[in-house]
Amino acid sequence: MFPDARGKFERASCLPCILQGHSDDNMPLQKFRYVDHLLPFYLKEEQSLIVIERTQMNNSNQSNTANQASTSVETTPLSWGKSYLMCPPDYFGVFYEINPWMHRENRPDFELAIEQWHNLVANLRHAGAKVEIIEPVKELPDMVYVANAGLVDGQRLILSRFRHAERQPESIYTSQWFQARGREVAELVGEGDICFEGCGDAFPFRGSLLAGYGFRSDLSSHAVLSRLLGVTVHSVKLIDPRFYHFDISFSPLDNRHAIINPAAWDRASNAIIEQLVPEPLVLELDEALTFCANSVVVGKVIVMPACPPRVGRILERWGYDVCVSPVSEFLKAGGAVRCLTLPLDMTISNPAMNYKEGEPKLLHESENVQLDL
Ligand code: ARG
Repeated sequence: MFPDARGKFERASCLPCILQGHSDDNMPLQKFRYVDHLLPFYLKEEQSLIVIERTQMNNSNQSNTANQASTSVETTPLSWGKSYLMCPPDYFGVFYEINPWMHRENRPDFELAIEQWHNLVANLRHAGAKVEIIEPVKELPDMVYVANAGLVDGQRLILSRFRHAERQPESIYTSQWFQARGREVAELVGEGDICFEGCGDAFPFRGSLLAGYGFRSDLSSHAVLSRLLGVTVHSVKLIDPRFYHFDISFSPLDNRHAIINPAAWDRASNAIIEQLVPEPLVLELDEALTFCANSVVVGKVIVMPACPPRVGRILERWGYDVCVSPVSEFLKAGGAVRCLTLPLDMTISNPAMNYKEGEPKLLHESENVQLDL
């Protein structure tokens, strides 16, 4: 169905001099080997102390006493991430502005966007993922960012409720797609109009749900999610409008590792993540601004929109193969690799936790985070 991506793969254009690598001409997937002596280590003045402390604490070989989980958690792969829904960019463009990255005058190159999207599909499939397609709809240019369509839980989709009117009609088509395939579609029911933007703002991680709020999703959606799923929801407050969805500052890799940008969250949320993620890859602000946290893991391959050298070296040390799949045209509307994909194989609900019906379990900053170790 898709054109062969061979020969169309571009290296990350911003990084050619610091990536030393090889490519197999027959493969769309590129592997890079990172060169230690080229490591830049920045400590930027504008970054908060907490970021610097955590960078030193977590990404050097020092022990992290604050994170008691760090030594005791074996690395096991994510239980999801082998099957994705994607939407071709036939009607993609920047025709309105609903996040700080979107500027109508900075138009995506349509041909390049098509090529980058097909290349991403090829890279995901080559990495071992199944990709299913939802038909694009005219006048819904952001439908390509299908991560925001909802949150899959087994055979059920929890349908999003978009904040902006421009995206709200997408839900009709998402709902139809899932129902046509025999999946149940659950709607968020609560007091008033609760906004929730799907997998863009929520990830299952080590038996609970980590969910962002503040720009697109409402904090009140977390109580509804907890009730629907029967799992603890850890709420993360997003404070930087450039990282308006949680999936731009948090990328789970396995049950031990995640790529994180702490500068996107308030201090209390940082404390929660610090307890939950045994060994984070803490991004510098300039690294985070490449959208490298907006990446997708398929087994041991991490498909990324960009990979700053320090990040690549750490990922490689952790045993990941980095595949850079450029999506420059989609960054113009504020989204990258993760945003363009909706995981179809997530199971979040946990009946074993036996919550009483209607009793949400939410953890905020003041509570102690208990981990299932
Ligand atoms: N233009 C889209 C919006 O503002 C981009 C969505 C990015 N999606 C994501 N999962 N971060 O809604």
